[in-house]
Amino acid sequence: MSFSAIPLTGDKPEQYRQLLDQARALLAGERDRVANAANLSALVYHALPELNWVGFYFHDGNELVVGPFQGLPACVRIPLDKGVCGAAARTRRTQRVADVHAFPGHIACDAASRSEIVIPLLDGERLLGVFDLDSPVPDRFDADDQHGLEAIAAAFVASLR
Ligand code: SME
Repeated sequence: MSFSAIPLTGDKPEQYRQLLDQARALLAGERDRVANAANLSALVYHALPELNWVGFYFHDGNELVVGPFQGLPACVRIPLDKGVCGAAARTRRTQRVADVHAFPGHIACDAASRSEIVIPLLDGERLLGVFDLDSPVPDRFDADDQHGLEAIAAAFVASLR
């Protein structure tokens, strides 16, 4: 198999529709969590501009443990009461942080990160982990990004069933 990234076109919601289609095609027929998280990280990292980290943390029943990602090496374990990732996991709500330096308890894995979005991965009531994206650009993620990335996160969870 060789994967060729098709450039995204149109306005942002349209680009996310195209990216979601690419994600679904990439994950189709495979249920392995590591395989799908690895390929999805690579797809999103290369498809979207102005990102320095894209990846997964999985909940081990106690804390978050780093999974497949693209970007610089990252903190391995994040307790649920720490960081943007912990907040997303604990509250089970997407955390969209325009300025990570202003977020109490933000964990700086890559000093270049200026803004961040973290989406909880929920299979029904069960917390699987989080999908985390960092940008070197302040306020990189808007409501369109949140909507589009939540749909991609949902496609990941659906692929595991
Ligand atoms: N900044 C995150 C830690 C994970 S890294 O961004 C990869 C946080 O505050 O939870």
